[in-house]
Amino acid sequence: MYNSVNRNSSFDPNLPELDLTHLQELLRQQAQRRPLYEKVAILGCGYVGSALGQYWQEQGHYVTGTTTSGERVASLSEIVSQVVLMKGDDATAMQSLLQGQDTVVVSVAPTGFQLVNEAIYEATYLGTARNLVHALNQAPSVKQIIYLSSCSVYGDRQGEWVDESSPVKPSERRSQVIYETEKILLQTTNENQRVCVLRLGGIYGPERELINMFRDLAGMTLPGRGERFINWIHRNDIVGAIEFARLNELEGIYNLVDDSQLTLKKQIERVFWHYGLPPVHWDTSKPSPRRKSLRVSNQKLKTAGYQLVHPQLLV
Ligand SMILES: NC(=O)c1ccc[n+]([C@@H]2O[C@H](COP(=O)([O-])OP(=O)(O)OC[C@H]3O[C@@H](n4cnc5c(N)ncnc54)[C@H](OP(=O)(O)O)[C@@H]3O)[C@@H](O)[C@H]2O)c1
Repeated sequence: MYNSVNRNSSFDPNLPELDLTHLQELLRQQAQRRPLYEKVAILGCGYVGSALGQYWQEQGHYVTGTTTSGERVASLSEIVSQVVLMKGDDATAMQSLLQGQDTVVVSVAPTGFQLVNEAIYEATYLGTARNLVHALNQAPSVKQIIYLSSCSVYGDRQGEWVDESSPVKPSERRSQVIYETEKILLQTTNENQRVCVLRLGGIYGPERELINMFRDLAGMTLPGRGERFINWIHRNDIVGAIEFARLNELEGIYNLVDDSQLTLKKQIERVFWHYGLPPVHWDTSKPSPRRKSLRVSNQKLKTAGYQLVHPQLLV
């Protein structure tokens, strides 16, 4: 057993073989400045937040996750250490949530019917961000805040490339709200507290498969050429990039999209070919509906060292 190792002896053939993979992992983690196990809070344990919570819990962290839905408390309790039923603008609950936390992830979004109501959109993002910033004054343990933002803040670029240095041009109020939330949180950056903003492409993954988003279009004729670019990111890569940001203490803004950079037409072709569905026909005599089109660079995150789990669309 490792307990019986004689530290003065340089080599003992009777000792168990060293687990090099485990050792390398320990060294990798120790090379970074963060402790192996932390207290982490996930504000908004929805689609991404619960996958992240489960991952961190399995890694041995003490994970507190929040939900606004009483009926979700029991199922979330099975995957994280502690569940808190709260809304982001609840001052008392926020102060209590932050106590002793090392890392806080903001992964809130209006759910269900709330999507159509912009006032609730503002309350969800801005209400949570302002309340969080206020509560941080009383939470000196928090070293990092990671906010899941959206590439929608760039607005429509008619297929042009954008990176983190590109000016933002939100084309609707919801994207403006997401951008204002970034600004509120980024303002809290100081030498003891880092803020990392991940601007996500459209999220897909288990139970949010692309086939389910496109299936109804099978065999249809659509106007235009399907030439607009849509940027996607698999949920595994969101969890992976958040963990990378935590371990490497990233701060500032990073885009998080995959490498696929395909037009809508190519994406649908790829998915329908895989599932053997009748193709979409494009009526090029008609104009394409005016929708956002942009190509988002993920180079900054890659240069920082992150390797995508799913660089190409998983169909
Ligand atoms: N969906 C996309 O394609 C996309 C694209 C770019 C960026 N994002 C961003 O990625 C993040 C994660 O998205 P997701 O798809 O995992 O979201 P989601 O599944 O809709 O989960 C959102 C979570 O926020 C909670 N919530 C709702 N209103 C709240 C409030 N007022 N205060 C506190 N919590 C509240 C929800 O509570 P309940 O547990 O009660 O439902 C849920 O746990 C979000 O920040 C979203 O803006 C999403």
